[in-house]
Amino acid sequence: MPPTDLKNNPALQAPKRSKPLFQPGTSENQALVIFVLGGPGAGKGTQCANIVRDYGFKHLSAGDLLREEQDRKGSEFGDMIKDYIKEGQIVPMEVTIQLLENAMTSTIDKNGNRKFLIDGFPRKMDQAVAFEEKVVRSKFTLFFDCPEETMRERLLDRGKTSGRADDNEESIKKRFRTFVETSMPVVEMFEKEGRVVKCDARKSPEEVYQGVRQEFEKEGIKPSGQ
Ligand code: C5P
Ligand code: MG
Repeated sequence: MPPTDLKNNPALQAPKRSKPLFQPGTSENQALVIFVLGGPGAGKGTQCANIVRDYGFKHLSAGDLLREEQDRKGSEFGDMIKDYIKEGQIVPMEVTIQLLENAMTSTIDKNGNRKFLIDGFPRKMDQAVAFEEKVVRSKFTLFFDCPEETMRERLLDRGKTSGRADDNEESIKKRFRTFVETSMPVVEMFEKEGRVVKCDARKSPEEVYQGVRQEFEKEGIKPSGQ
């Protein structure tokens, strides 16, 4: 990837902060964040939709936000994002963190929802550290554990209709490699801190969700209306 000078880009100059934008929680000046990680095709998006329906979280997919920005007319980052996604590499964190922060503040302003499932993030150590320093410390990371062969089958199947530029054999191989080399160390770091909740993602979506609900209960996260 060509080097990018994002540090001095005026669109990404988040104000310098001595503490995170939010404290963890759901009151004023707070936000509750659960990171959702797992290899490509582990079923993160599918499970997030269930959690949104039953627990009232707002789903923010880093990949979706990047694709949206890529397609936004006049975006100065569009071409760069496109190249990174095609190569299965991680877009420089300044862009992704800014997109997430903007989405969080606009959700809070719009409807007061302060509970966020941040899907497909942090995929790299620097993103994890910077987000927790600048935006908010996450409550925990929900990790969907799935063997590569299962994920590969799911992605190729999804590729028949997803229209995604990276749901093909060649990109999938690169995405797996990035996941193992760059994203797993993040999961391992959080695991050492005792902040990972693991779900077996090999089974059917319904069975996987059953596991998610049990884990949420253990963590004291209640369905909406309870
Ligand atoms: O999560 P999803 O599979 O939609 O991500 C697609 C691509 O978006 C990744 O392969 C990567 O190129 C980019 N991405 C990123 N940083 C993230 C999430 C996604 O660079 N935190
Ligand atoms: Mg996804």
